[in-house]
Amino acid sequence: MTRLGLVAIQLLLLIWSCLGALSQAKSLIDYRVDNENAIAKDVETYNFESCQIYCYGELLKTIQMAKLFEDSKTFVDMKLKQAPAKTLEDFELLMESKNRTPSREDLQKFVDDYFSPKGTELELWTPTDWTANPSFLDRITDPDLKQWGQELNNIWKDLGRKMNDDVLKNPEYYSIIPVPNPVIIPGGRFIEFYYWDSYWIIRGLLHSEMQDTARGMIENFMSIVQRIGFIPNGGRVYYWGRSQPPLLTGMVKSYVDFTNDDLFAINALEVLEHEFEYFVNNHSVQVKGHNLAVYRDSSTGPRPESYREDVETAENFDTPEAKEDHYSELKSAAESGMDFSSRWFINENGTNVGNLSHLRTRSIVPVDLNSFLYWNAKLIAEFHAKAGNVDKMTEYEKKAQTLLQGIQDVLWNEEAGCWLDYDMINEKPRDYFVPTNLAPLFVKAYNISDTEKISASVLSYIEKNKLDTFPGGVPNTLYHTGEQWDFPNVWAPMQYIVVEGLANLNTPAAKELSKKWALRWVKSNFKAYTDNFHMYEKYNAEEFGGHGGGGEYGVQTGFGWSNGVIIEWLSKHGRELSEGSGGGGAGTTKRLISVVGVAAVTIVALIAGRVLWKSWFK
Ligand SMILES: *[C@@H]1O[C@H](CO)[C@@H](O)[C@H](O)[C@H]1NC(C)=O
Ligand SMILES: *[C@@H]1O[C@H](CO)[C@@H](O)[C@H](O)[C@H]1NC(C)=O
Ligand SMILES: *[C@@H]1O[C@H](CO)[C@@H](O)[C@H](O)[C@H]1NC(C)=O
Ligand SMILES: *[C@@H]1O[C@H](CO)[C@@H](O)[C@H](O)[C@H]1NC(C)=O
Repeated sequence: MTRLGLVAIQLLLLIWSCLGALSQAKSLIDYRVDNENAIAKDVETYNFESCQIYCYGELLKTIQMAKLFEDSKTFVDMKLKQAPAKTLEDFELLMESKNRTPSREDLQKFVDDYFSPKGTELELWTPTDWTANPSFLDRITDPDLKQWGQELNNIWKDLGRKMNDDVLKNPEYYSIIPVPNPVIIPGGRFIEFYYWDSYWIIRGLLHSEMQDTARGMIENFMSIVQRIGFIPNGGRVYYWGRSQPPLLTGMVKSYVDFTNDDLFAINALEVLEHEFEYFVNNHSVQVKGHNLAVYRDSSTGPRPESYREDVETAENFDTPEAKEDHYSELKSAAESGMDFSSRWFINENGTNVGNLSHLRTRSIVPVDLNSFLYWNAKLIAEFHAKAGNVDKMTEYEKKAQTLLQGIQDVLWNEEAGCWLDYDMINEKPRDYFVPTNLAPLFVKAYNISDTEKISASVLSYIEKNKLDTFPGGVPNTLYHTGEQWDFPNVWAPMQYIVVEGLANLNTPAAKELSKKWALRWVKSNFKAYTDNFHMYEKYNAEEFGGHGGGGEYGVQTGFGWSNGVIIEWLSKHGRELSEGSGGGGAGTTKRLISVVGVAAVTIVALIAGRVLWKSWFK
């Protein structure tokens, strides 16, 4: 009787949980369909109407120059209370009534009257496919690290956001770019999705078994390419003139690797080709007879989200043309994702010594961008092969080979033993360390028959630059400028590119260094986490467990790409990692083997002794 009762209760619970899962799945589908329709309706009319408020113009300039907010990004993330036209009209009336010199108080009042606080368009969203115990946790031996993995998996719930329905109905009231599916944001001041961050976020989600959320984010990007022609830096209209390192095709590849859903890649091909062609055509430069790409922006004026800061650095320049050039350099550096860094400085004497006024991003041919484009072409060819499109496959293989030839001839540097960015002004390679110098390893943009030689060169390049000497990871550059993409800051995506690149080489020495750096990175992040219970946007090469600073804004925590990289490496190396033993899992195992060995030898000796003793003295 009681047994039957128990079975009945279990059955009821099972039905209950199945229904729950079903209704969750249904609500996600409904949500998608609703929003898909909203966007489909909007395609023809979608023209960034809110740009006249958030991207350029007198209102933007006047309010940003008044420094009403600590962080310039705050204002451009605020929602309009009135339509853009009405807002501009009333702003003009204010300007006229104040003799075009309104006081700070006048402007504060205007902002209070016409704008709502930032972030109201984004609701917290608990990913519907989130699961408490993804299987990567089973691959972590150390209980403390396993616990940490669990907490990192929990953070996805804090970083989930979905747009409220009003954004889709009235996009002109917002700076946010509407997308059909909910997203995982980086965190901190970055309350919307970002392009290249999402590559590492999506990999982390896939390891956390959140395939729906990952696919939803990829579909968002594809919908943006369909509407706008490329993917802006982040999910705001004020990023309209610039993109970020092109990793959408890599995201699709990651998704397909995890799910074997080849059809997803095949259906994405048109969009992926479009994005590839946009980068190749709209970013192209001619160097030594090769067509290569540079980071480049196509808008005018200062960065809306850092308006006053840009106007201030532009004071170094006299003419409006020179100032405009400077704004372009700033925004092009932002497109690279490395804003800012001495990587993009070219001094009068051709060195990287300087400050933001020396930004010459558009004149530097970057190793990473061209490697990513090579990778995109290879992957597009691979997806065409899956679809049986032989002609298209051949076409994209050819495009990849052309890029590879350019990378070899212009960016590979025999003397340095590595790839280097190329300075088009002084027509010379830039022999300064940046992790992206190793990006060709990450995407296998080299002649595979040269693997042994490249491995030896790159390892001696690493040795020469003493990159293995930093307790907190490989720094972004070796120069201390106070910019956030310079020494001593270390960034998760760059650790990832270097570590996975070395692993790809697959020579014993490169593999060993790769694993050493991966384990060190995980442990250093763990130390920082146990100190403050934060995952950081960036870390500090000089301090094991130290987080980074500098640059334009305060310390940011959250943090999407850092979480993604750690989750992947916990999953990959979880069995070898043990906290407490400084030397790592391998060291512990060795010690264990030797203890067991000594004990075994002793026991065997004792038994043998006893047997002999007995036989002699019987
Ligand atoms: C790319 O460049 C072409 C030609 O210069 C231009 O017409 C087009 O608007 C650009 N596309 C984007 C998305 O910026
Ligand atoms: C280049 O100029 C900077 C300052 O303008 C100076 O610090 C640096 O030593 C110079 N380097 C060379 C190689 O001349
Ligand atoms: C940046 O360098 C320029 C040119 O050397 C110099 O005139 C300017 O004062 C520097 N700016 C700052 C903020 O140091
Ligand atoms: C790759 O290297 C091999 C051997 O060094 C050489 O024969 C071949 O031409 C190279 N291929 C390319 C595309 O450079």
